[in-house]
Amino acid sequence: MKLLTSLCRPLWPCVVLALLAFAPAASAKALKVGFAQTGAESGWRTANTDSMKSEAVARGIDLKFADAQGKPENQIRAVRSFIAQGVDAIIIAPIVTTGWEPVLREAKQAKIPVIVMDRAVQVSDESLYACFIGSDFAEEGRMAADWLAKYTGGKGRILELQGTTGSDPANERRRAFAEGIAKYPDLKVIDSQSGDFQRQQGKEVMEALLKKHGRDFDIVYSHNDDMALGAIQAIEAAGLKPGKDVIIVSIDAIKEGVTAVADGKINCVVECNPLFGPKAYDAVAKIVAGQPVPRKQYNKDGLFDATNAAAALPTRQY
Ligand code: AHR
Repeated sequence: MKLLTSLCRPLWPCVVLALLAFAPAASAKALKVGFAQTGAESGWRTANTDSMKSEAVARGIDLKFADAQGKPENQIRAVRSFIAQGVDAIIIAPIVTTGWEPVLREAKQAKIPVIVMDRAVQVSDESLYACFIGSDFAEEGRMAADWLAKYTGGKGRILELQGTTGSDPANERRRAFAEGIAKYPDLKVIDSQSGDFQRQQGKEVMEALLKKHGRDFDIVYSHNDDMALGAIQAIEAAGLKPGKDVIIVSIDAIKEGVTAVADGKINCVVECNPLFGPKAYDAVAKIVAGQPVPRKQYNKDGLFDATNAAAALPTRQY
């Protein structure tokens, strides 16, 4: 044994060097990223959070996650705390479009890049954030309007369930849908109320609308699937058949929404893909490495109705 130890002694430095050379990149510093999420208002949001968290784990990113519970002031507080923690980058899914300038200036001053994800912000200086990655909400509203106009022959009284007041998707889905149906004088929004993108609120708002309008409407246009699914409960409780007595058009295409289309309870859902994890962290890695990234990146979304919903279900990822 003594002989063996003395024979091997000169080789130890080489063994240590070889081990270091083949050691995984564990010694490379993990990126520290702060993510200020809106909350957990919908199935879409849950899928978005899962994508951000699982992709962070897969890439060895040290993710600081903050759930703002639907309150803009919580979200701004979370961003301030990320700045104080000295993260490498901050990702925000803004609840509302306004009120961001001061905290974005603070991040810029601290030289922490900010990626705006999912929903846009309104700022006077675009250099306050590094890039935007999201969906084209106006295009989604247009797609819903075009599908509806074709399906109804340009006729019908619409009840609209809006998303969170002041949010980018609620603003754009409302505006673009209104523009899309404007060329059909017999296709009209007769009432429009916010259900805050939540299922329970969608149900309650629909109950109130049924009380107010009775049977004097033909269509529900919902800014997301969760509110549409809540509205379906209210419509069925009122003795009506969703998808037949009431035409329902919605946005998101979460699995439950596409299932409702396959079951004939929703007539059409426009897709809004929530799986931003890979794109968001690709952008973070490039920005931190000083490489250029596109200023704005939009997902390309599809549409599901009776012609393709059932076939799409087995491969839906969210
Ligand atoms: O910003 C995307 C929207 O937010 C989704 O359509 C909605 O379901 C979510 O809460």
